[in-house]
Amino acid sequence: MTDDTKTSGAPGANAMWGGRFAAGPDAIMEAINASISFDKRLYAQDIRGSRAHAAMLAATGILSDRDAEAIGEGLLTVLSEIEAGEFQFSTALEDIHMNVEARLKALIGEPAGRLHTARSRNDQVATDFRLWVRDQADAAIEGLTALQTALLAQAEAGAEWVMPGFTHLQTAQPVTWGHHMMAYIEMFARDIGRFGDARARMNECPLGAAALAGTSFPINREMTAKALGFDRPMANSLDAVSDRDFALEFLSAASICAMHLSRFAEELVIWSSAQFRFVTLSDRFSTGSSIMPQKKNPDAAELIRAKIGRILGATVALFTVMKGLPLAYSKDMQEDKEQVFDAADTLMLALAAMEGMVRDMNANRANLEKAAASGFSTATDLADWLVRAAGLPFREAHHVTGALVALAEKKGCDLPDLTLEEMQASHPGITEEIYSVLGVHNSVASRQSYGGTAPDQVRAQIARWRGKLK
Ligand code: ARG
Repeated sequence: MTDDTKTSGAPGANAMWGGRFAAGPDAIMEAINASISFDKRLYAQDIRGSRAHAAMLAATGILSDRDAEAIGEGLLTVLSEIEAGEFQFSTALEDIHMNVEARLKALIGEPAGRLHTARSRNDQVATDFRLWVRDQADAAIEGLTALQTALLAQAEAGAEWVMPGFTHLQTAQPVTWGHHMMAYIEMFARDIGRFGDARARMNECPLGAAALAGTSFPINREMTAKALGFDRPMANSLDAVSDRDFALEFLSAASICAMHLSRFAEELVIWSSAQFRFVTLSDRFSTGSSIMPQKKNPDAAELIRAKIGRILGATVALFTVMKGLPLAYSKDMQEDKEQVFDAADTLMLALAAMEGMVRDMNANRANLEKAAASGFSTATDLADWLVRAAGLPFREAHHVTGALVALAEKKGCDLPDLTLEEMQASHPGITEEIYSVLGVHNSVASRQSYGGTAPDQVRAQIARWRGKLK
């Protein structure tokens, strides 16, 4: 315990509320109660909030200009001490709010005790945490935008390269590399939208709600809200101190984003395998094996695939903490921070790693094309041709094509390797023209419907995103 915590009351009693306590806390109590080990991460937000509060107290005449100035200056000293690594954090002082205030008192004396006028740690922590999560929403949007930019470069390089498209991870129809990359751009755009929506909703200021009921002092909540970059003060003081929706929304958006990253990571793991060889991941984002000299492992992709576990875990944890809590503040809510800190760190790292991997990755055009042509990937094109050129109902065309696939399978060849006679034995309406339809390039070029895989369509998507990502 530092000197700052000593009061004139009982030995060891807390400086902030020691008045009604006859003894200090049990060591176990201190251990379960203190949050400073993790909430020190909120120091910049805490000091920013306190400075805004002090300036408002002066502007409304609740505090003298002299005291407010001493507080504002003193808080800047505390900030620089923390940033220089010189600050002594104290567990006895429980959390970041009391650590900062105690140090302020040591620095400036009596006026420090006036800072907490018309405020409680309940609105203080809600404000600090909102400010922190708001920054993280911005960081997520930035990370996602960088990832989209890397994906767009991949799409531009291989807008018309053909590759197999899969359903059930079975060869379905040929698609283009550019189309596949652009699919992820759309997914990550929705993530950006979710973080943006959450950010807009969380951008209201709890400060001034005080403990729960508001305050009898003539504060100006508009002023502190504006100083902290919030759109407005929160309208209900009970809600302001007890709401953690902003953290839950951030975690929910992070969970969906992590799920997207996990899906993409899984594709990279599959694509970089010796069996697929669709992509080569750079050495910078791979590792070797200590026993098998030939191995190059996609560890970054595997870890990104796994990170959803932590992020969704944090989401479930905070929902579980919040459920059933009565209004307004309960100490349970102190459990919000570690989950969000870990989830945010994890998400930012996963986004950065994915961006680096995508930026460095080489798609193997020849392997993609070879794979695109195997597995009877143009069977649907054959059936469509029978509908268009020979006038068959689609169901019958499907049947005829199925028989030809079975024949090719039996012969161990691909559809274009069947002779015209063999084709005509299945349906006499088939002509030479069928062979042009069976090529993968013609197949993708024909899928001109809006959002389809034809290179023209893909280039239109790329151009639209090029404009947006500039
Ligand atoms: N460390 C606390 C938290 O993170 C700050 C608020 C404490 N409020 C209180 N009334 N004990 O939730």
